[in-house]
This record gives sequence, C-alpha cells and structure tokens, in this order.
Amino acid sequence: MISFPRTALAEQLVQALQGRAFLGDVHNGLFLAAPRRTGKSTFLRSDLQPTLESAGVTVVYVDLWADPRRDPGALIAEAIGGSLDLHLGAVARAARRTGLKSVKLAGTVEIDTSRIGHVDGLTLVDALRALHERAGKPVALIVDEAQHALTSEAGEAAMTALKSARDQLNKPGQINLMLVMSGSDRDKLLRLVVSASAPFYGSQIQPLPPLDADFIAHVADLVEAQRPDLRPVDRPALNSAFAVFNHRPQFFMAGLGAVLSPLAALTGRFEPALLEAAQDRLREDESQMESEFLGLKPTEQAVLWRMLEQGPRFRPYDSEALRFYRDKTGHPVNATQAQRALESLRQRMPALVWKSARGEYSVEDAAMYRWYEARRGANLWPPLPPQGQLPLEDD
Ligand SMILES: Nc1ncnc2c1ncn2[C@@H]1O[C@H](COP(=O)(O)OP(=O)(O)OP(=O)(O)O)[C@@H](O)[C@H]1O
Ligand SMILES: [Mg+2]
Repeated sequence: MISFPRTALAEQLVQALQGRAFLGDVHNGLFLAAPRRTGKSTFLRSDLQPTLESAGVTVVYVDLWADPRRDPGALIAEAIGGSLDLHLGAVARAARRTGLKSVKLAGTVEIDTSRIGHVDGLTLVDALRALHERAGKPVALIVDEAQHALTSEAGEAAMTALKSARDQLNKPGQINLMLVMSGSDRDKLLRLVVSASAPFYGSQIQPLPPLDADFIAHVADLVEAQRPDLRPVDRPALNSAFAVFNHRPQFFMAGLGAVLSPLAALTGRFEPALLEAAQDRLREDESQMESEFLGLKPTEQAVLWRMLEQGPRFRPYDSEALRFYRDKTGHPVNATQAQRALESLRQRMPALVWKSARGEYSVEDAAMYRWYEARRGANLWPPLPPQGQLPLEDD
C-alpha cells in the first residue's frame, strides 16, 4: 500500500487554523466535505494531525463513525477525556498519593482527581480549558464524520458545547481551541452551520480537494521504478482513469494492481486496460444502486425518489409529498405509511436514509444524488425491473 503525503495542503490549513491566513474564517472552525473514500480520514490523521503537532498544537481526534452503536456525544466526551487523562495522569497520581481530592490548574479549573478521564463530571468546556492549560499549548479537536453528531441530542449538545468552548477560549490574535470537522456529505454538514440555531452558524463548508495530478505522478514514478519496461507511463491516461474512479485512491490502486499483475495476461499497454477497469467500476457502482432501488417496496421507492428529487427541501409528510407518493405508487399513502417506509430505509444495512435528532431526513450516501441526476439527464429515470421480473408490492 502506498501513502502519498499532502504536506503543503496541511501546512496551509494549519496557518489558517492559527488565524494567520490573511483571508478566511477558518480559526472559527474548519468544515471539510469530500465524497466517500476520497481520503478524508487519511488526510486528517496522516497529514493534518502531524502538521498541527509540529506547530506545537495538542491534537484530539475522534471519528464519530468508529462505533455507530455509541452515542456521538459520548464519543466526543471520551476523546477529550482520554487526552486530558494523558496530560493529567502524573499530576493526578501525585495528587491522589498525597491525599488531595482535587487539583487546581494554573487557571481557574478545579478537577476532581478521581474523575479524570470521565468528562461527564466536568463540562466539555471545562475539560477543553483544562486540557489547554495542562498541555500549555493550543488544542485542536478533529471530529471526523461530524454530521453524525446531529443524529442524537447528546451529539447536538456536544457541538453546542464545542462552539461555546471556542468562544470562551479564543481571543483575537490568540487561538487556543481549533475545531476541524469533516464529513462526506456537504448538505449534512451544512446543518451545523446554516441556520441561526445551528451551533456553528456563519461558518463555511469547504470542499477538501481530491488527490490530484501530483498523486498520479507519484504513482507513475513508482510504476516506472518497478517496471522499467513500461517507461514512459502515460500520465494523462492515468489521470483520466483516476477521474473515472471518482478520485478514490483505493479503487484506483486496486485496478492498477490488477492490470499490472502477471496474472492479467495483458497483451497491450496497461493504461487502456486501467481505464476500462475504471469504467467497469463505475457501471458496478451504478448497477448496485439500481438493484438496491429495485429491491425496495413501492412506497419506499416513492419516498426515496421524492428525497432525491427534493434534496434539502425534502418534507416527508406535506400534502405535495403525499400526492407524489400516491402518483408514483398508484395508491393513497398516508403519513404513517410514509414514516414506516422512511424508517425501513433507515434501518437497512447499509442504511439508505439518514435522520437527524430533529427529525430531518436525507439520503445517506450523497453519491446517490449524482446517480439520480445522471439518470434523469439521460432520461433513464426511474430504473425499471428487468423484463420478466414482477415489481414488488407494499405490505
Ligand atoms: N494520500 C493517500 N495516498 C494513498 N492512498 C490514500 C491516500 N488517502 C487515502 N488513501 C486510500 O484511500 C482509501 C480511503 O481513504 P480514507 O479512509 O482516508 O477516505 P475517507 O474519505 O475518510 O473514506 P470514508 O468516506 O469511508 O470515511 C484508503 O484505502 C486509503 O488508504
Ligand atoms: Mg473517513
């Protein structure tokens, strides 16, 4: 497996997080969106985190998808508590040995020594302040898959606490708490910033740039070093194939490995074969979504269709939506039935629908919107069951 470092991008973002970039509002929170499997987590962990650390920042990383059964609010608290524990460990042990019940840090925060590592006793704001004071450095909290926080009330409360911690710890010219949030769906991340009641109202969502021609040049160099017989590698062709793979390095590298394998028994050049593999992959992704769609009951299909068509404007039970479901299924659908369909779309593995703690719904995987738009554009919507296969019926 190869790893391509993205140091320059990480350095620019660290400057911006420190409030040193001339423009922008990143010191108030950096919100990064990029499609699935394009390298968000790798960038955060392998590039951004070490760059922050070399700039003298203590980093706490938490992935809210690490364990989908755990409440996102608890995961955030635990990550901060764990880091605080690490920094307080020696102090706390010493305090406990001398029978001290609590330690007072340089500032005002008093910490019960028996509760260190358990943030529930402290508020998140106090925990972050304590961490900052104890570490004697600015703190960066990286929340991967941050949109997941909005699926629970504790997660929402954690986000509000983070915003408040940011406002309390930061002053103009002195950034003590940096917040980085990432997610694979811009529309879901938007819910963190877009309405006046959203925790990070006023912040912008930025696209994390996909890996680009530099990555491909790096890969091409490696191929040439290992296989001098293939020199020169056609770099533009590899770039095109990478684009067809939707800039997903894992699928690109797997495709490359397959066409370069001695088992591939390739007669011509490997580049056209790679492009073909990319197109196969695209067709596979599409037929997977198609068969998933066709495997749904009519009401589920109608609800999903409405969501795809309406995007962020989707309202599941308004009269227009109910009329839409009736038109598409050929029978009346009431709000209870629509809700049942939504729930079953949400309970599937993998889930097709996402629900926030406030009862807002959206399609789980943003790739489905692109698939829908492409098929609409080509007059291929809705997908029809293969001939001879009877459509499913509602219960
Ligand atoms: N800079 C890179 N160099 C080489 N491979 C990479 C790089 N970034 C990501 N990858 C590979 O791409 C795959 C996906 O990466 P990663 O998990 O970081 O993406 P992601 O966007 O966080 O995915 P998800 O949406 O599933 O969370 C991994 O197999 C990883 O090894
Ligand atoms: Mg990830």
